[in-house]
This record gives sequence, structure tokens and C-alpha cells, in this order.
Amino acid sequence: MITKKTNHLRLPFLLLSSACSAALLIFATIAVLHAAPRIPKPDANASREAFLEVYNVFTSPRCQNCHPAGDSPLQGDDSHVHLQYVQRGKDGHGVYGMRCDACHQTANLSGEHMPPGNPKWSLPSPEHKMIIVGRSPAELCRQLKDPKQTGGRSLQQLLEHVSSDDLVGWAWDPGTGRTPPPLSRTETVAQMKIWIDGGAACPQ
Ligand code: HEC
Ligand code: HEC
Repeated sequence: MITKKTNHLRLPFLLLSSACSAALLIFATIAVLHAAPRIPKPDANASREAFLEVYNVFTSPRCQNCHPAGDSPLQGDDSHVHLQYVQRGKDGHGVYGMRCDACHQTANLSGEHMPPGNPKWSLPSPEHKMIIVGRSPAELCRQLKDPKQTGGRSLQQLLEHVSSDDLVGWAWDPGTGRTPPPLSRTETVAQMKIWIDGGAACPQ
């Protein structure tokens, strides 16, 4: 009799305790999930938005003046064709008698309309012109992802190029009378990283 009674009591007790442990398990799982480092999922929308920020930098005069569609560099905030009929030449450093370093020194010369300078001052070579002028966001996006057009550089290498190349860096120290790009270099690199980490999505 006594055993039967306890058995009767045991069933609801067992149900209650298993409900409790189930609840505990759920809480524990939630706690663990919260504590675990989240692996960010590639976010295509964030990626596209970040690319538009990067695009505004690339198409600023400080970058696009050296990335023209034709074979003459451009000048000034209005990106007019370089005076003196300066040409790209076979290596991007100009043609005989009109080499870039005839006028452009290793550093900016001070004063308005004086030649800016850098030891590597030149246009990209005719093989990899990396044209920026006139490209839509979608076009430039696809171009940066095409190794045939980047001289074989991967997205990671392009990121490094923008973050540490000395000639690219000139754009943020362009000399008197020239507007720097709309984002700082650090911010440009950050946006480029969001673009790449989100799957390098292209705007439509
Ligand atoms: C004084 C001219 C000059 C300026 C200013 C300049 N570039 Fe360039 N850019 C070059 C040259 C030259 C190359 C090719 C360098 C190489 O292949 O190592 C190049 C290559 C690149 C490439 C790599 C493409 C490739 O061929 O692999 C990217 C991306 C780029 N530039 C972006 C920029 C951005 C962004 C800016 C502005 C913040 C900028 N450039 C400003 C001359 C310039
Ligand atoms: C005869 C002298 C001379 C030669 C040669 C020359 N430049 Fe220039 N360049 C200048 C001067 C001067 C300026 C500044 C003009 C100004 O600010 O109004 C300038 C400005 C520029 C700018 C504009 C920078 C900006 O963002 O506004 C670019 C780009 C440029 N040169 C590229 C080149 C390249 C590339 C070569 C060689 C292929 C070259 N130049 C050869 C004299 C020269």
C-alpha cells in the first residue's frame, strides 16, 4: 500500500523535475550561444553600401586624375586634361623628353599649381590602366574583381595596395589647393574591408 502511494506521488514529481531540467537546458544553451563568439555572416547589402563609399573615393579627382580613360593624366579638382600634352608612354612614366620626373619631384613642391610629387609618380602601365574615369559603380566593382584588369592582384592585395602603397597615400597629402578624397584613408580601408568581407557584392 505504502509503495503504491509513493509511486502515485512519484509520477507528477518526475514530470515536474524533467520539465525543470528541460528549462535549465534551454537556459544553459541560450547562455552558451550568447557567450560564444559570433561568426559574422557575409552581408551582401552592407557590402554593396560599403562599395559605394569606396567608389566615391576612387572617383574623387585625387585618384581618378591618374586613372583616366585615355592616355593623358588629368589635373585639378575639375579633372581637366594635363597641360603640355603629357602622355602615358610605354611604362606609364611618360614619353621621351616629357617624362613625369622632369617636373614631378619626389615630394610636393609648395605653392598653388606647383607639381605634386612622389618617387613613383606615374600613370599605370598601358597593360593595366585600371581606368576609373567614367566607370559606373557596377562597372568599377566588377573591374576590381577581374584579375585580368588588376594585373593579377587579388581583392586582398588591392586592399593592401590602398592601405599601404605610398603613391596611393599621396592622395591624402596632395599639396596646396587640392581637395583630399571624401573619406580618410583609414575609413576608406575600413569600408573596403566591409565590402570584401561581405562577399564583394556589386551594386546593380
Ligand atoms: C600619381 C598617380 C596616381 C595616383 C594619384 C593614384 N594612383 Fe592608383 N595607380 C597608379 C599607378 C602607377 C598604379 C600601378 C601601380 C602598380 O601596378 O604597382 C596604380 C594602381 C592602382 C590600383 C591597382 C590596380 C592594379 O593595376 O592592380 C588601384 C586599386 C589604385 N591604383 C587605386 C588608387 C586610389 C584609390 C587612389 C586614390 C586614393 C589612387 N589609385 C591614386 C597611379 C596613381
Ligand atoms: C612639363 C612638366 C610636367 C610633366 C612632364 C608632367 N607633369 Fe604632371 N603636373 C605638372 C604640373 C605643373 C602640375 C600641377 C598643375 C596644377 O596644380 O595646376 C601637374 C599635375 C599633375 C597631376 C594632377 C594632380 C591632381 O590630382 O590634381 C597629375 C595626375 C599629373 N600631373 C600626372 C603626371 C604624369 C603621370 C606625368 C608623366 C606621364 C606628368 N604629370 C608629367 C607638370 C608636369
